[in-house]
Amino acid sequence: MTRIFSGVKPTGHLTLGNYLGAVRRWAGTDQHRADALFCVVDLHALTVEHDPARVRRLSRQAATLLLAAGIDPALCTVFVQSHVDEHARLSYVMECTATDGELRRMIQYKEKSARARAAGESVRLSLLTYPALMAADILAYGTDEVPVGDDQTQHVELTRDLAVRFNQRYGHTFVVPKATRPEVAARVMDLQEPTSKMGKSHAATAGIVYLLDEPEVVRKKIMRAVTDSGREVEYDREEKPGVANLLDVLAACEGGNPEELAGVYESYGALKKDTAEAVVELLRPVRERHAELAADPGYVDQVLKEGAERARGMARPTVDAAYRAIGLLPAG
Ligand code: AMP
Ligand code: TRP
Repeated sequence: MTRIFSGVKPTGHLTLGNYLGAVRRWAGTDQHRADALFCVVDLHALTVEHDPARVRRLSRQAATLLLAAGIDPALCTVFVQSHVDEHARLSYVMECTATDGELRRMIQYKEKSARARAAGESVRLSLLTYPALMAADILAYGTDEVPVGDDQTQHVELTRDLAVRFNQRYGHTFVVPKATRPEVAARVMDLQEPTSKMGKSHAATAGIVYLLDEPEVVRKKIMRAVTDSGREVEYDREEKPGVANLLDVLAACEGGNPEELAGVYESYGALKKDTAEAVVELLRPVRERHAELAADPGYVDQVLKEGAERARGMARPTVDAAYRAIGLLPAG
């Protein structure tokens, strides 16, 4: 059976980008067709300035939202990364497989480290080594497919390179995984700045739709989205990134094709209005289910506990095999 692994970082509240790019597929198809693991990757949230209490809160919230989105712990494994030691154990082995140059070439590292330096903040070493941990997350489970948004493709490519290199040097140990992306909305853009990704940790929130935003807030954000000059509704990501983004979002909500949808609209206003309503309806059941689940934190904790036990059992043999293959003496 196909093994799927993916994760979400508790660095902020989950966004429409997370949902359309990743979580919706996890719940909709992935968990039904494969042996899937979905992980709140909390160790990854420590790579940038963080508040411990907030990370803790966001981790529980992210797990609750995964369940609210329809991820069913009877079908797949839902857990928190730091509950399973194998991730950190294998991460070190990945650091011994990757090169300094490879990690410095990662776009996300270049962008985030430049931003931190510009703000006068220090850059944590873990921001550089983060893709080694991500490779460990994936490889520890013999993963075949990694359903992610476009921004993660480079990290999954690196993971493939590391798996192949390790296997060649030390003998076949890892499955070589591949990234899978959604057909539409693989990169949802910020509504106020449609040339940048809608990112959950951005400081300016007017262009970000959060999964838990009230319907009125969602409507306001979408109605105020930056559109482009001209009046024609056309699907042109280069020339009209704002309009193209709305068309992508609407197409993702309704299951249509953004180019065809462009022909249906005569004004930006009408497109915004329909997009706003489509997003409100898409998120409504998730928000409602989240409220129910949040009232019962004991249930979520129990799901995470059982998930971690299951995940540990799956990762342990692979990580032990990697330790032996690379030359570490078995503990006996
Ligand atoms: P992160 O927010 O970085 O933890 O991302 C969790 C998942 O959501 C990853 O698979 C990302 O690729 C995906 N994702 C995050 N932001 C977006 C976005 N704006 N558009 C599409 N996918 C996204
Ligand atoms: N790096 C991913 C992100 O920022 C999160 C992540 C960590 C992940 N480990 C993973 C995604 C393993 C897929 C598989 O979105």
